[in-house]
Amino acid sequence: MRGNASALFRATFGGAPRAAASAPGRVNLIGEHTDYNGGPVLPVAYAARTYVAVGPGEPGILEMVSTREEQVARIDYRAGRLAGWGAYVAGVMRELVALGAAPLAGGARVAVASDVPVAAGLASSAALTVAAAKALSLLVGARLQARQLAGVAFRAEHDHVGVRCGIMDQMSAALARPGRALLLECASLAVRHIPIGGRLLLVDSGLRRELAAGALNERRAECEAAVARLKLELPELRWLASWPAAWLPRLKRVLPEPLRSRALHVVGETARTRFGAQLLARRHLKRFGELLYESHESCRQLYDCSTPELDTIVAAARRAGALGARLTGAGWGGAVLVLLGGKGEAKVTREIRRSFRAAYGREPAIDVVHPSGGVRREPVR
Ligand code: GLA
Repeated sequence: MRGNASALFRATFGGAPRAAASAPGRVNLIGEHTDYNGGPVLPVAYAARTYVAVGPGEPGILEMVSTREEQVARIDYRAGRLAGWGAYVAGVMRELVALGAAPLAGGARVAVASDVPVAAGLASSAALTVAAAKALSLLVGARLQARQLAGVAFRAEHDHVGVRCGIMDQMSAALARPGRALLLECASLAVRHIPIGGRLLLVDSGLRRELAAGALNERRAECEAAVARLKLELPELRWLASWPAAWLPRLKRVLPEPLRSRALHVVGETARTRFGAQLLARRHLKRFGELLYESHESCRQLYDCSTPELDTIVAAARRAGALGARLTGAGWGGAVLVLLGGKGEAKVTREIRRSFRAAYGREPAIDVVHPSGGVRREPVR
């Protein structure tokens, strides 16, 4: 895909791009729906990347083309609410202008080539916005740090597109390192890079979902409603993830359903993720894997973000002896992450394929996850 963005740029706009960059999708090991609750997450960057090649354009105008859509989109990025994938790039441009990292009233031509699947729980939008932020900032020679790129990308999606996501995906796309998981504490933004053992598989259910369309925003509103009530018990509480684990009985008393279930997931998942990071660092993969199964159960029962397809894959992995498995990303479709020890891969993939086929009449795509690096500048061809 690397060369494709430059080739697409030339074919569409008739000249060479001025700058290019790429950023990866992500697979979250554990820590689901904790980021916007001020808790920890533990993603790895996925080897699939999004490449963005850019050149200067007409003032105020973005012209965008992608390998996934033939038509060139032409928009005034300064105008009102924007729709479609171009809205993400427009949001990035607005944020860069605000930072002085893009020419005031400047414009750009943008070509995108990606092999990150869309709406599969692999953070394709963060791969796009982080890569676009890097490439577009290079147009004016700005040298933004990885964390600044993550901030630009986050505000583009959150403030301009209107998806009330957390910061996990953008930080992962910006800061991830090859062979490492990124332990990110989302309240303080402290990070630690943890070497990964075992072998990771990604099983794609093939079920796609539209994030902005609601479920994530709805869960987030429920979490905020839970915090508002819990504040009466603990006035200094700012984040749901900071509720003391020892006070679970009080939490259960105070919150009605479904807020109680949502909050129990967030508090439990926060503890699991911090413990999981320690286990991973010490290479206690077996116990780490058990936490993955626990996390899936919590997502399924308490956060209500799984689907029968994802549950089928997790159950099959468990039966065949995988160390752990869980839905990864927002849920409501998308993919399952499977953790394997040294052996048994053939048995696990066979059992997953068999039971998925028996239930749904088709086989899911299975990929090996090679934890890769974050955003980088790409050569212009
Ligand atoms: C989506 C959001 C992330 C995170 C996950 C759930 O991917 O973009 O910020 O909230 O869902 O963990």
